[in-house]
Amino acid sequence: MEITTYLNDQRQRVEDRLAALMLDPVGDFAKHIEAMRYSLFVGGKRIRPILCLAAAEAVNSDAAVRQRALPVACALECIHTYSLIHDDLPAMDDDDLRRGKPTNHTVFGEAAAILAGDGLLTFAFDLLSSPVSAAVADPARIRIIQTVARAAGPLGMVGGQSLDMIYEGQQVGYETLRSIHRSKTGALITASVTCGAIVAGASVEQEDALKTYGDHIGLAFQIVDDLLDVEATTEQLGKPAGSDVKSDKVTYPSLFGKDISRTMAREAVQEALAALAVFDRQADPLRALANFIVDRKK
Ligand code: IPE
Ligand code: IPE
Ligand code: MG
Ligand code: MG
Ligand code: MG
Repeated sequence: MEITTYLNDQRQRVEDRLAALMLDPVGDFAKHIEAMRYSLFVGGKRIRPILCLAAAEAVNSDAAVRQRALPVACALECIHTYSLIHDDLPAMDDDDLRRGKPTNHTVFGEAAAILAGDGLLTFAFDLLSSPVSAAVADPARIRIIQTVARAAGPLGMVGGQSLDMIYEGQQVGYETLRSIHRSKTGALITASVTCGAIVAGASVEQEDALKTYGDHIGLAFQIVDDLLDVEATTEQLGKPAGSDVKSDKVTYPSLFGKDISRTMAREAVQEALAALAVFDRQADPLRALANFIVDRKK
C-alpha cells in the first residue's frame, strides 16, 4: 500500500475532526485556549491518532467503526501535544523550536505554556468521556479512559519523563534506557493502538496481538527519534537537532552507536510485524505504519 497517501488521508481526517472538537478562542479563557490551539494546530505527523484509526480498521473495516474511533484519536493527539509543550520547557529539555515553529513557552511565556499543557491533558479526558464519544458503548469507553490514563500517567509517560530527567547526565544501562523509552514514548503509542482495538470490539487475542505490536513500534519510535536527533538537521525535523547531546541525555545512539541502534529499531519493527500475523490484509495500514516509523526522516 502507498503509505504517503494513506498518512495524508488519515491526517486530514484527524485535522478536520480536531478542528471541529477543539474549543474556540473566545470568552474569558480566550488567551489560554489560543495557547492550546497554537501547539495543537501547528503541525505534527499525527502518528498516534492514525495508529488508533488503523488498529480499529485492522479489527473491523467498516468505515463507521473508524468514525467512532475519531474522537478517541483526537484525545490522544491532545495528550501527545501537551507532552511536547511540557517536554520543551526550560525546566525540561529547554528547546525553542517545535513542529517548525517557536515553542509554546517562547511565544506565550512559561506559565501560559504549562497551563496550555494542563488544558490539553484535561480536555482530552473531557473528549473521551463526553457525548462526542458516546457512539462507543459505556463499558468500552471506561476501558478506553483507563487505558489512556494509565499510559499517560505516573507508570507511563509522566513516569518515563521523570526518569528521563533524573538520569540526565548519568550513565545508565540498557535495561534502564529501554524502560525509559517504553514508558515515556512507548506507553502512549501502545495505548493508541489498544484504544482503536477496543473501539472496534477486538477479541482478547486480537487485542493482545495489537498491544504487542504497539509495544514494539513504541520502542522503535523512540530509538529512531534518538537517531534523528544525531543524524537529521533542525530544518528537516522542525525541532532542534542535537537536543539530546546538549542536555546530556542517555540515548540508544549514545549507548550503542548509530548502526546498532538502527538494527535494534529494525528488529523491534520485525517483532511488531510478527505480532500482526493473526490479521489479514485489513492490518496492512498497521504494517505500513511500522515500516514508516523506522524509515521516517522526521
Ligand atoms: C515526538 O513525537 C516526541 C516523541 C515522543 C519522540 P512525534 O515525532 O510524533 O512528534 P510530532 O507529533 O510529529 O510533532
Ligand atoms: C519526549 O522525548 C517524549 C515525550 C513524552 C514528549 P524527546 O524529548 O526525545 O522528544 P523530542 O525529541 O523533544 O520530540
Ligand atoms: Mg525529552
Ligand atoms: Mg525533547
Ligand atoms: Mg528526542
